[in-house]
This record gives sequence, C-alpha cells and structure tokens, in this order.
Amino acid sequence: MSTSSFSALLVENVHPDADAALNTFGPIAITRMGASPDPAALKSALADASVLGIRSRTHIDADILGAAPGLMAVGCFCIGTNQVDLNDAARRGVPVFNAPFANTRSVAELTLASIIMLMRRIPEKMFAIHEGGWLKTADGSNEVRKKKLGIVGYGNIGAQLSVMASALGMHVYYYDVEPKLAHGNARPMESLEAMLAECDVVTLHVPSTPQTRNLMNEKRIRAMKPGSYLINQARGDLVDVDALARALEDGHIAGTAVDVFPVEPSSKDNRFDSPLQRFKNVILTPHIGGSTLEAQAAIGQDSALKLAKYLHQGSTGHAVNFPQVEPGPLRSGAVRLCVPHVNAPGFLRRLNDAAEKAGANVAAQYLQTSPEIGYAVADLEGDLPADFLSRIEALEGTIRARLIPPPAA
Ligand code: NAI
Repeated sequence: MSTSSFSALLVENVHPDADAALNTFGPIAITRMGASPDPAALKSALADASVLGIRSRTHIDADILGAAPGLMAVGCFCIGTNQVDLNDAARRGVPVFNAPFANTRSVAELTLASIIMLMRRIPEKMFAIHEGGWLKTADGSNEVRKKKLGIVGYGNIGAQLSVMASALGMHVYYYDVEPKLAHGNARPMESLEAMLAECDVVTLHVPSTPQTRNLMNEKRIRAMKPGSYLINQARGDLVDVDALARALEDGHIAGTAVDVFPVEPSSKDNRFDSPLQRFKNVILTPHIGGSTLEAQAAIGQDSALKLAKYLHQGSTGHAVNFPQVEPGPLRSGAVRLCVPHVNAPGFLRRLNDAAEKAGANVAAQYLQTSPEIGYAVADLEGDLPADFLSRIEALEGTIRARLIPPPAA
C-alpha cells in the first residue's frame, strides 16, 4: 500500500488544526462532514476512509465497524471514549485513540483563578453588586501569596497547577498515592489527613475510582483547617456534596469552587439542581474546566497526530483499547509488517516462520498483548514475494495485516 493512499474522514467539526497534524508524516486525504452523520450516511462516507475522527456525538458500534472493513483506526477528538464500542473495535484490529491530557492547562488555569477569587471573597461581592449591593470591605479577603495550597493528585493537572501556584508565591503541598517528583519547592505529604489540617485551600485532581469515590466525606471535610476552601474541578463523585453544604452552612468551610457534580444535566435544556446553589460564597461552573478554544486546538492536534503515527509508523501508543507498541520511525531499506491478531500461543512463531520462508530478515520486532488481542510489528529486510501479505493474512490468528513501505527518500 502506498502511504499517499491514506484518507481520513473527520466529522462533528473537528478542530481545523487536525489537518496539519494528520499530514505530519506524509500526505493524508481529508474529507470533513460538519454535523454527526446518521448511521447510513456515516457508513457510506466510511467506504473510502482509512481513519475516522469523531467527537462525542457520533456513536461507533459493531454495526458501523462491520460496514467499514477498510477502517484502520478511530480517533476520538475529545476526552471520553464511551461513544465507541471499544471491545468490538479491538476484536476487528481497530485501535481507538483520544486526547486525555490536551486540556490540562485549561483546568489548571481555572483552578488557579478559583483560588484567587475565593480567597478574595469575590463571589459574595459579585452576587451583592448584581443586586445593587456594595460590599466594599477587606474583611476576610486575602492575597494568595504565602498561603498553603494542598493538591490532592499530583498528576498532569495537579503538577501543572503546582508550578503556577508556586510562581504566585503560594506554599504548595501535595498528596498522591504514587511517588511523584516535586516541582520547585512543592512538598509531598505523608497522608491526606495531614494535608487537610495544614492547608488554607485544598483542590482535588484525582480520577474517579472506587478508592476516590466520596474521598471528601463528612469526616475529611471536618478534618480540613477551619475557614479553609475546597475546590473540586475533577469528578463529581469525589465529594459528599451534602456534607460540604453543612460545612458551608456553619462556616467550617469558607467557600468552595465546584465544576463537576454527582448528577449533571445531559443538555442545556435540563435544569440543574444542587444543595450548593443557595450559598453566596461558592463558584459553581457547568463542567467547563477543560473547555477552552486552546484545549480544542490541542485536542485536534493530539488525536490527529496519534492517527497519523498509526498510519505511517504502526504506533498504537496511548490507544485506549489496544496493546501499545511504539516502534518509532521505519529505517530506509525495510518494510514494516503490522499484524493485530488473536492473543493465543504460537502466533509469533507462525509469523516468523512465514518471514523466514519468504527470505526476509527480521531487522526489528515488537509485540504487546492484552488478554484477547495481540499486536505484532516486524521490520523486514529483503525482497518479499508478491503474495507475502496474503500469506500473513492466512495465518491462524491473524485479524488483519498491512505493510508500511519505507519513507520516500
Ligand atoms: P492524571 O491521571 O494525570 O493524575 C491523577 C493523579 O491522581 C495521579 O498522579 C494519581 O496517582 C493520583 N491519584 C489517584 N488516586 C489517588 C488517590 N486515591 N489519592 C491521591 N492521589 C491519587 O489526571 P489529570 O489529567 O491530572 O486529571 C485529574 C482529574 O481532573 C481527573 O479526575 C479528570 O477526570 C479531571 N478533569 C476534569 C476536567 C473538567 O472539565 N473539569 C477536564 C480534565 C480533567
């Protein structure tokens, strides 16, 4: 297959920056459809597509995947991947990619802004002035400089926030279940409880897992320093919202900023209700922590680059449903054989036997497996017989196979 025959179908107004990223390693013909097409239109448009780029509204199920045998990969130009039948895609040898960290900076900025707004007690003053009030007072208003910030979860967002908050002169503490290298003068804490008792503002940046669900329960909220602030811009089920409301009511917590909720409206037409709405010292936002134009552009570039790398290098790095192999650029003089296969004993032996019978030298080889699927990549040197790919396709266990030619000199 010549690399110039690759084509991409992008639907749902994927960001325009995706086009340049898709063409990073070689030309890919791009077709765009504005809205999310209905299944019949999508099936028809997929007839010529090597890869498909979607956002959250296009559902890719077994029916769609079955109707697109030429489709090699799916890129979700968003964070979530629930809209794709990931297992069915994997069984067909179709890796699925997304862009989970492209909005890191946007969340960190909102958190930083929330810390400043809460510590200056801006929400109360804003509510008052909108109703004709004039709360011109310094009472309870503080600079953030030299205040103690506690970050729960020192991952992509937590670590970036740490750097930004340090630059403002805050003393940064963090707690993570994994050992994490401190940025700047940030200090790791031995326990969450120790951090809660120490910090003036605590912000959550952990995923939703059975261990983190209700992480901030009544007991932990009460363990926070009296008069401190709590921020949750991570996941709605991390905090017992009723317990938080009680702590706001009696002043134990001085204010809160919340972007994510246990129950969120599925569309803007549905009403949102929360026990936090009755307070004036809160910043409530509709799950927009990562929603910026810059994040959209970064998502466009990130997902597109992953698709381009898969097409031109066979890389499945960061795929959400597939064994991860990152073989890097192909050296000149070799061709790259990429074979998603059923994970069962003996496949690699059959593959290598076939390469040997074809007179090929295996210059490099990569294999990763998940319980069901294996993904083998082999760089082969020598003149391969014309029917080599058919021989690989005929091997027991092969799901699909392709050859990537060396880059044009
Ligand atoms: P990440 O995976 O890079 O970092 C998460 C960190 O939490 C890791 O270092 C992990 O070791 C740590 N962790 C896990 N369980 C823990 C526990 N029980 N206690 C302490 N630390 C624990 O994730 P990232 O990208 O930094 O995202 C953090 C959160 O932000 C996620 O929940 C994500 O869903 C959310 N998020 C929210 C957005 C919004 O629109 N509001 C947008 C993007 C992310």
